[in-house]
Amino acid sequence: MKVLFASSEIFPFAKSGGLADVANSLPKALSKQIDIVSVMPLYGFMDEKKLNKADISFEINLGGIEYKIEILFTKVDGFLTYFIKAPLLSTTLNLYGDKEAYANNDIRFGIFSASIVQLAKALHAEIVHLNDWHCALSAFWLKDTGIKSIFTIHNLAYQGIFEKDSLSRLGIGFEHFNMDDLEFYGKCNFMKAGIRYSDVLTTVSPTYAKEILTPTYGCGLNGFLNLYKRKLHGILNGINRDFFNPKTDELIFKNYDKNSLNLKQKNKKELYKKVNLTDIKLPLFVMISRLVEQKGFGILLESIDKILEKKLNLLLLVDGQSKFKEPLMQIAKKSKNFSLIFGYNESLSHQLYASADFLLMPSLFEPCGLNQMIAMAYGTIPIVHGTGGLKDSVHEKSSRCGKGIVFAKPSKKSLLLAIDRAMKLENIKQLQKFNMDCDLSFDESAKKYITIYKEILK
Ligand code: GLC
Repeated sequence: MKVLFASSEIFPFAKSGGLADVANSLPKALSKQIDIVSVMPLYGFMDEKKLNKADISFEINLGGIEYKIEILFTKVDGFLTYFIKAPLLSTTLNLYGDKEAYANNDIRFGIFSASIVQLAKALHAEIVHLNDWHCALSAFWLKDTGIKSIFTIHNLAYQGIFEKDSLSRLGIGFEHFNMDDLEFYGKCNFMKAGIRYSDVLTTVSPTYAKEILTPTYGCGLNGFLNLYKRKLHGILNGINRDFFNPKTDELIFKNYDKNSLNLKQKNKKELYKKVNLTDIKLPLFVMISRLVEQKGFGILLESIDKILEKKLNLLLLVDGQSKFKEPLMQIAKKSKNFSLIFGYNESLSHQLYASADFLLMPSLFEPCGLNQMIAMAYGTIPIVHGTGGLKDSVHEKSSRCGKGIVFAKPSKKSLLLAIDRAMKLENIKQLQKFNMDCDLSFDESAKKYITIYKEILK
């Protein structure tokens, strides 16, 4: 079986969120058992000189315009990743936009999607595993090729919606512009191509697979998804335990394992030299996130005054521009037990997991979430809103792996009560050790994907 795994971002080459981590760890876990290679765009901020030129090149024609495509590759730890170098796609300094989304993202990711199909042919792939809207159109273009496709939804909130005339610019006929196909409230919707034309549809947790069929979580596509629910599976993500391992992690100050948990305090002490927090005896609550509504910053802002009245330290490592930035900065200015750090910073995030006692994830919805798993691997107790993958991976009452504080409603009251419950926990060490023993890797879920791949090829 030969599989081509496609994603718009793959760690460490390009990352804006959890998709990049999964696009790194899932194919690697799969590669232990099957022949699989990955593909992503080459972006303008990447160092092309570090990559090799492949023997493959081709031209694609979209709406009458020819695009010349070159293919680059690199092999890391024996694993092969291809890069699509194309006009428009590869010249940008960001993945999806600078301040605003790039106006030609329809064409950029249309080129990416069409190139994936050509690359799959050149590599004789039997299955193409597509992730999120950026490569969803590949499912449409693969439909008559005999190559099978699986489409994974990492976040239904981002669908790739563009003006109607994108279709003609991509050379897709207007017979596809209807509600059973790519049309969506007068515009065209790339995600719908993935949902409709893939052979199998998956999303990143069993609970999210059920939630997206409802109006509350369906982002306007619940009706459409219900038509295809027979091919929809929810498979929980995992994390790369080699990379997220406090025993060997080179990015943290002091390595530790479940038998030396007291060394978390040493990590905290070092961390506090860098951030403006002092009392290391107080429990440290952290949040590591993109600064977007989804992650629950609305609830956090409503609750933050009350949170900071408690005997704790709060540290946020947040990335991105949004309406939440300014109010958080104002609060940070006047609070001694609150530190606010901006920017995506992989090392610092590891240091936070290693130092913290608790991780906050009050997400309004969360397809899977990886931070709660990383936290558990570092002996940091997650406090989560019980939705999507958070519900499937964190349990307060049952004996299942892993353990943490779970609140049912995303509200100020529930969040404050959850923090109180956390601060009253008596058996913290036991919980930390229990979580550190959980299998948080991708191994179990990789087996489920392989079962699906085999089914598709039958
Ligand atoms: C998206 C989702 C997140 C998920 C990640 C990887 O970022 O919002 O919940 O963990 O994709 O699948």
